[in-house]
Amino acid sequence: MRKLLVTSALPYANGPIHIGHLVEYLQTDIWVRFQKMMGNQCLYFCADDTHGTAITIRAQAEGRTEEDIINEMSLAHQKDFSDFGIEFDNYGSTNSEESRAVCHEIWKSLRDADMVIEQDIDQLFDTEKGVFLADRFVRGTCPKCDSTNQPGDNCGNCGATYTPAELVNPVSTLSGTTPEVRTAKHLFVQIEKLHGFLNEWTQSGTLPPESANYLKNFFLNEPLRDWDISRPGPYFGFEIPDSPGNYWYVWFDAPIGYIGSTSQWCAANGEKLEDWWKSDDVEIHHFIGKDIQYFHTLFWPAMLKTSGYSLPTKVHIHGFLTVDGEKMSKSRGTFVRAAKYLEHLNPAYLRYYYATKLSSKVEDLDLNLEEFVARVNSDLVGKVVNLASRTAKFIQETGLSASYPEDGGLFESFADRGDDIAAAYENGDYSKAMRMIMELADQANPFVENNAPWELRKDPDNTQKLQDVCTVSLNLFRTLAIYLAPVLPDLAEKAGELFGEELTSWNQAKSPKVGGGIAKFKHMMQRVEAKAIETIIEESREEAAAAAKASETPSNWDDSDEAITATPIADEITIDDFLKVDLRVARVIEANEVPEARKLVQLTLSLGGDETRNVFAGIKAAYEPADLVGKLVVLVANLAPRKMKFGVSEGMVIASGPGGEDIHLIEPGSGAKPGQRVS
Ligand code: 2FM
Ligand code: ZN
Repeated sequence: MRKLLVTSALPYANGPIHIGHLVEYLQTDIWVRFQKMMGNQCLYFCADDTHGTAITIRAQAEGRTEEDIINEMSLAHQKDFSDFGIEFDNYGSTNSEESRAVCHEIWKSLRDADMVIEQDIDQLFDTEKGVFLADRFVRGTCPKCDSTNQPGDNCGNCGATYTPAELVNPVSTLSGTTPEVRTAKHLFVQIEKLHGFLNEWTQSGTLPPESANYLKNFFLNEPLRDWDISRPGPYFGFEIPDSPGNYWYVWFDAPIGYIGSTSQWCAANGEKLEDWWKSDDVEIHHFIGKDIQYFHTLFWPAMLKTSGYSLPTKVHIHGFLTVDGEKMSKSRGTFVRAAKYLEHLNPAYLRYYYATKLSSKVEDLDLNLEEFVARVNSDLVGKVVNLASRTAKFIQETGLSASYPEDGGLFESFADRGDDIAAAYENGDYSKAMRMIMELADQANPFVENNAPWELRKDPDNTQKLQDVCTVSLNLFRTLAIYLAPVLPDLAEKAGELFGEELTSWNQAKSPKVGGGIAKFKHMMQRVEAKAIETIIEESREEAAAAAKASETPSNWDDSDEAITATPIADEITIDDFLKVDLRVARVIEANEVPEARKLVQLTLSLGGDETRNVFAGIKAAYEPADLVGKLVVLVANLAPRKMKFGVSEGMVIASGPGGEDIHLIEPGSGAKPGQRVS
């Protein structure tokens, strides 16, 4: 029996679980379930990744404490995982005392190994929000190419990299204010001291070959840069014991959360942490996405090595999820929360579909929505569940045949495939495992069709044959359910109920079940309806639009200097000059196209009571007349009337923008009344 300790990356506490995350958690859960079926002792640990600036920003915005938010998010995450059948042995938090204790221990080892140095760092500080700004919370003008509205780390226009403090005219996206440059002491870990070890460890077969090569070519061919692992307060995290006022950077304590979560489990189960994290008998397997391999394959092993913890046996690395060939997108509605999916669809569908797409390669996985429906319906409902639903009802009274009937070698060939399928699971090649299982299903179905139990039951002379045919079909179904159990635990449970046994061991597929009763057949899986997917996409789109509106923050602002440069500010005027212009709130009560005019829309504007004006406005390319009716606009009410080809224009509505489609009526705030003067 192997002893395995398995982890998935810790999800950030500031956002919900979505279908992109699920690629990893489902992949890991399938592997863990498979190991348990093989009789191995396999523990699966995870936790919420709670520290850092993002959670503080959210806490400030919502007027809550960080602790309040992380507690709520932890419950929501755990519910989503559990609803998807993802079973952890412990789900912890990086903000736990167990994690803090391990942080202290590892830190001490790094200090003792003389790997920590201090350096002064210039960082931007938002004086209004009272926080140091991470790169993504700053925008400004690129110091190289002068392109405006660039992020704090590299320029989207010329590609230059720089520090946020080098940005020209930086603006905090949190408050819209100009941040201050403050110099603060940061602590760095010199992982270069472990260069030799990392060279060897990363190339020793622990990582997928693509990743090992990537590290060799991009990082390990030159000295490794010191790793900045502290942030000056205020920062939501653990204070560094020998550096008061400084906190460990979120990525220092995140992986330590794996050990912290294990430590919680050990305390609850009377086990010793060192028996799991400092023992040669235990294999440690991390499942992560390709975006965080740098942390897990350089920093993390360096920390473990220095502090005497075991190194990962294997780091399983996957690619990103795309939906219909494109990045998940909020505006397209393909950024689907786990909980939203579950409002409309069975988790088993996604578990199976992802399994059909996952391999041991570091490659992206595409969720093709049409294929998703077709796969689930044809494979699971059409080929697997059908085997039971078309036969179980005919032997409800007789039960299974007393001895296994002659089946032309079918059962034996099914049992023989067990080792190959197991090897595919072990290697993370689930798509191969699913293909092999469906090939078996393709052999089982013709057996049912050729023997047509629904015909046999019509003749009482065929009772024995009927029982035998159904015994074979149901046993083939049972084997498929066992092979699919890591992916479809619910199906295995229902299949087990049918046979009156629990299907929990891979070895059960080696021998058929004979002689027992068969429980009343209950429906095992419905077909996927394409309509449900459309609803999910539509609702996700609406949700994202509402959230974007609600969170219009300075980070969404895109205020370049283009407009102000194109039209500089006009000559100064006096207040009296300004007051000569009589601006009034007016309501559009009628709007018509002027077919002969390329740009004009005819508006009838009400100034309240019976006071109306007829105005021709050059806004045809930007507005549909029907959308204008009811809107409040601002009218230059004392402009001399102008005779035009189509009638007299009695004023002008004001708008911004260069023209064409890019023209925007100035709308008074709600509550303004027609006839009110604007000044
Ligand atoms: O990238 C992420 O979502 C991180 N929260 C993963 C942390 S994994 C581990 F190191 F804890
Ligand atoms: Zn630039």
